[in-house]
Amino acid sequence: MAQELQLTYGMVGGGRGSMIGDPHRRAVMLDGQAKIVAGAFSNDGEKTADMADILGIDISRCYANYKYMAKAEAERPDGIDFVVVVTPNNTHYEICKTFLEAGINVVCDKPLALNYADCADLARIAKEKGLLFMVTYTYMGYGTAKYAREIIAKGEIGDVRMVMVEYPQGWLAFEGQTGGKQGAWRTNPEGSGGFNCLGDIGTHAANAVTTFTGLKIKRLLAKMEIKVPGRQLDDNDSVLMELENGASAMLWSSQIAVGYDNDLRIRVFGTKGTIEWFQREPEQIRVIDANSTVHEHHRGHPALAGDSARYNRLPAGHPEGWLAAMGNLYHSYCECVIAKKNGTFTEDMIDYPDVNKGAEGLAFVEACIKSNKAGNVWVDLDY
Ligand SMILES: NC(=O)c1ccc[n+]([C@@H]2O[C@H](COP(=O)([O-])OP(=O)(O)OC[C@H]3O[C@@H](n4cnc5c(N)ncnc54)[C@H](O)[C@@H]3O)[C@@H](O)[C@H]2O)c1
Repeated sequence: MAQELQLTYGMVGGGRGSMIGDPHRRAVMLDGQAKIVAGAFSNDGEKTADMADILGIDISRCYANYKYMAKAEAERPDGIDFVVVVTPNNTHYEICKTFLEAGINVVCDKPLALNYADCADLARIAKEKGLLFMVTYTYMGYGTAKYAREIIAKGEIGDVRMVMVEYPQGWLAFEGQTGGKQGAWRTNPEGSGGFNCLGDIGTHAANAVTTFTGLKIKRLLAKMEIKVPGRQLDDNDSVLMELENGASAMLWSSQIAVGYDNDLRIRVFGTKGTIEWFQREPEQIRVIDANSTVHEHHRGHPALAGDSARYNRLPAGHPEGWLAAMGNLYHSYCECVIAKKNGTFTEDMIDYPDVNKGAEGLAFVEACIKSNKAGNVWVDLDY
């Protein structure tokens, strides 16, 4: 899969001690399509310089803040091809908007913004400017997840009737457990925008439902709970959903599930069969046919062919993981950016979650908040 290095990128956020910036940088490197050359890694200039030094970035492209960075990079003849935004949620909208308006392609981590209107605005600007915008719903980068999407679309399990999805974590299960730097802003209404668990991992689960099935969420009923005393925002969410084809779905996202770590699991039940995919066992996918026979497909074997096979980096049985899933998203994104530069880009090349998928996530969150506030009632999604 390796390609000659063709692109350059910059990053906002991802300074020393942060969580997701470093995995993004490693994932981009997997296929050698892009090199980091610029950054505003922190609000603190010294910390940005420190990270630039670690990454070997020229000091002239190490910026005191993202506004300077967008302006300066847009003006350079060799300016970055895209920016990666890995800051807390409450900053995404302004940062992404600034880079889009400067004419720079954007990758942003989820949740895309704090509300649907801001996401729609970003989608509009990206469209008007003809820019590519990826939202890193990492789990949908797994080859097996892509394969699940493919075979559901082909009708292998018939019409989707029911989806069960869960994303339990246990890192905030106890009173006094604050989750360090990462937990501080996630559990603070100002930092995370009035929702915690639902935005952080519920959006991953909702995105898994809509990506696997290809169906939008039509309406939902949510119960957003605070289980740990002293917390201000939700740490345990249960959501009943109806999809656009009338199928039902149940979603549970939780940070108080003792002993669980990023256990995203989804089961899709159709009129002819069932698909099960568990992110902790991403090398395989189980398809159950109408005779209740269980077929276990392993990544890397010919049975798991189709479009997803092009992302294989290792032979079957040598596990690829979360970093490779993120790398797969970047692989498609970089291919598209390169094609845009070459004038060969077509929309059907996009095989990553785009800005519209990011916006769907906030439509889901907003509907959940509305439902919860109104006493757990059914609410239509407002796309
Ligand atoms: N895709 C995934 O699976 C996944 C996993 C973890 C986090 N995330 C998302 O990634 C984002 C970052 O999360 P994290 O856990 O890495 O947070 P973090 O608190 O560990 O790191 C945030 C970084 O952003 C920097 N920062 C804050 N404001 C800034 C600004 N205005 N300009 C420049 N830098 C700034 C901070 O100094 C820090 O380096 C969040 O939106 C989160 O939801 C996604």
